[in-house]
Amino acid sequence: MTRGFHFAAGPAMLPESLLKEAQKDILNWQQTGMSILEIGHRTAHFRDLLSQAETNLRSLINIPSNYHVLFLAGSARMLFSMIPMNFLAKGETADYLVTGIWSLMALEEARKLKQGRCVVSGENSGFTTVPPQSSWKCNPEAAYFYYTPNETVNGIYYPKPVISDQIPLVADMTSCLLAEPICVEDYDLIFAGAQKNIANAGLTLVIIRDEFVKTIQHTNLPTMFDFRTHIEHHSLYATPPTFNCYLAAKMFDWIRQQGGVDALYAINQQKAAALYQCIDESSFYTCSIEKPYRSLFNVCFKVPDASLETLFVEEAKKRKLYALQGHRVVGGLRASLYNAMPMKGVLSLIDFMQDFEQRTRLQATRLR
Ligand SMILES: Cc1ncc(COP(=O)(O)O)c(C=O)c1O
Repeated sequence: MTRGFHFAAGPAMLPESLLKEAQKDILNWQQTGMSILEIGHRTAHFRDLLSQAETNLRSLINIPSNYHVLFLAGSARMLFSMIPMNFLAKGETADYLVTGIWSLMALEEARKLKQGRCVVSGENSGFTTVPPQSSWKCNPEAAYFYYTPNETVNGIYYPKPVISDQIPLVADMTSCLLAEPICVEDYDLIFAGAQKNIANAGLTLVIIRDEFVKTIQHTNLPTMFDFRTHIEHHSLYATPPTFNCYLAAKMFDWIRQQGGVDALYAINQQKAAALYQCIDESSFYTCSIEKPYRSLFNVCFKVPDASLETLFVEEAKKRKLYALQGHRVVGGLRASLYNAMPMKGVLSLIDFMQDFEQRTRLQATRLR
């Protein structure tokens, strides 16, 4: 059976070449006579793999030597709790820019410690825009400033905010890390769940500035939730998700072979531009996100009548265009266009969308 194009927001499509290599390595990895699934995390083989993965990631996005790279088991949401637990001392607060559902959830976790402040929220607009920076209420004493450049559920993007250099900047890059160029030095902590552009679900990457780690004052954090544990043990304090690390290492190689992050970003821009053009030129499909904030990686759109959504998704499936339903919280339709989605997949989707529009209109005319 040939594979189709998988537009899910995550776990997302992986390059076919990686899946084929993994298929082979699941039986016998590097002629060890063992599966990659069986390799111990304390073996020289695995340590080499992890260290090579880190070296490759560092070179892909120029991570300076004063940053630690962690490969943590668990979901990105775990970081919503770990960040305030580690970086908020008694009496301190952190600023949160709320541009969509994920940053809202992160704020709610910080609020459990009674130390999260909302700088501004786009919720009143239904997360279709971000209020202008002149209306933000920033705290000049904030322990850190937290934001989510790409909001996966809402399909909204916000570029790096301009804030005081005195305040550490923390970013949830779960759905954009490695899909666009960044300057790591602009951030004090970056994290990303692996399930979009890095590997299979269950791994979260953390890139963290050493000087920021040194500001942690707590002495009684639960061991597994203390960033210092994982730094000290080079991500090997507990058993890491070994297969995810293997796949991430392969993905970093794949990205390099594609020409690196800049080359993929150029293609990502073209893919999103083609799809938004299809939506904007039609009077059938609509995208409610204000143009300057539209995500390159999650294109959210609607058909004129929500009852057509199921038909759209089912018919798309017949053309091997999978997982186009929107997130259950916001509904609508969504096409996620991460690094592994080729232009060919986007063109097939556009072709289907135009055909679906035409047929639906024709049927509506006949019924009149
Ligand atoms: C931007 C962003 N942050 C956080 C998460 C939560 O990830 P997880 O399900 O791994 O906790 C997601 C999931 O899609 C996401 O897109």
